[in-house]
Amino acid sequence: MTDNVIEIKNITKKFGNFTAVKGISFSIKEGEIFGLLGPNGAGKTTTLNMVLGLLHPTTGKILIDGLDNTEHPEKVKNLIGFMTQETVVDSTLTGRQNLEIAARLYHVPENEVQKRIRSSLDEANLTGFADRQAGTYSGGMQRRLNLVKSMIHEPRILILDEPTTGLDVQSRLSMWNHIKNLNKAGVTIILTTQYLEEADSLCDRIAIIDHGEVKAIGTASELKKIVSSGNILDITTKVSNAEEVQRLLKSKFHLESEIKNDRVTATVEGKPIEMLVKIGKALEDQRVEVLAISMHLPTMDDVFIKLTGESMRDSASNEMPDSMVRAGMAGRR
Ligand SMILES: Nc1ncnc2c1ncn2[C@@H]1O[C@H](COP(=O)(O)OP(=O)(O)O)[C@@H](O)[C@H]1O
Ligand SMILES: [Mg+2]
Repeated sequence: MTDNVIEIKNITKKFGNFTAVKGISFSIKEGEIFGLLGPNGAGKTTTLNMVLGLLHPTTGKILIDGLDNTEHPEKVKNLIGFMTQETVVDSTLTGRQNLEIAARLYHVPENEVQKRIRSSLDEANLTGFADRQAGTYSGGMQRRLNLVKSMIHEPRILILDEPTTGLDVQSRLSMWNHIKNLNKAGVTIILTTQYLEEADSLCDRIAIIDHGEVKAIGTASELKKIVSSGNILDITTKVSNAEEVQRLLKSKFHLESEIKNDRVTATVEGKPIEMLVKIGKALEDQRVEVLAISMHLPTMDDVFIKLTGESMRDSASNEMPDSMVRAGMAGRR
């Protein structure tokens, strides 16, 4: 036996003449939180649907717990919980009724059902709202109901397709906590996201996919090293001082830097503390007014842009992920 609960082996998916997934391979270990990060249309949902057995790969295969998922659909159904990109709660039914239906669908043993529903409502912080129609719930509440619904049969693997897209900051953080707690309890999780900081803070490993291909795979720090082996020096000064800072970095430290308004950034090799102290000292000696100075690893935004480029993707929704807005991708359709 291998400790890989999911093995994806060179899968492709064609829709007519269009190839949405072009030979993706990766494995997921028991207990991992694994992230598929990619822009709109990258092939994330198509890949997940193939893992779930809802779509069959055109070529390649997927093993769940060592078994081909197209040959063992019932086993896969029992092992995996799934939350789709769209919130699918029945808005005319109460939260409790939604959970009852899910329990029946997944053949939860009759004597377990009520206990399971109580603990699900409790986990989702919905006990007080259990007998109200789900249609009256806020977006965050519906998403929480959806999550516990997909866990009603206590699967070992949970697949979440963009679990936080469109949620406000508080609901997103609460969803992150919920995901972390499930993982601590032993559930292996695959999630897709367009939010770079989400992948960074939640996932043990991340695959960046674009145009149906894996562009890179690794831990967040491994991916950041693709952008640069060094650190990013970030100096905020007055706009009028920026060029002076740039000249000083060049003449004293042979550093090439970039200016953006009041910020000067450069990639710095070598020991970060030592370099930061030296550069700080040189700026003081020169009496340049510095408002902030920091040394940090490249961010996931830097990684994402480097690997997937800056062009905007056509989107089915009008929603602009805020990570992309921050990365300056707004309005470049
Ligand atoms: N059933 C389908 N028929 C035709 N094209 C599809 C179908 N499903 C997805 N696609 C196309 O495949 C590509 C990948 O889609 P998808 O997996 O939904 O991307 P993501 O989830 O990363 O946004 C997109 O270009 C999409 O338009
Ligand atoms: Mg999708």
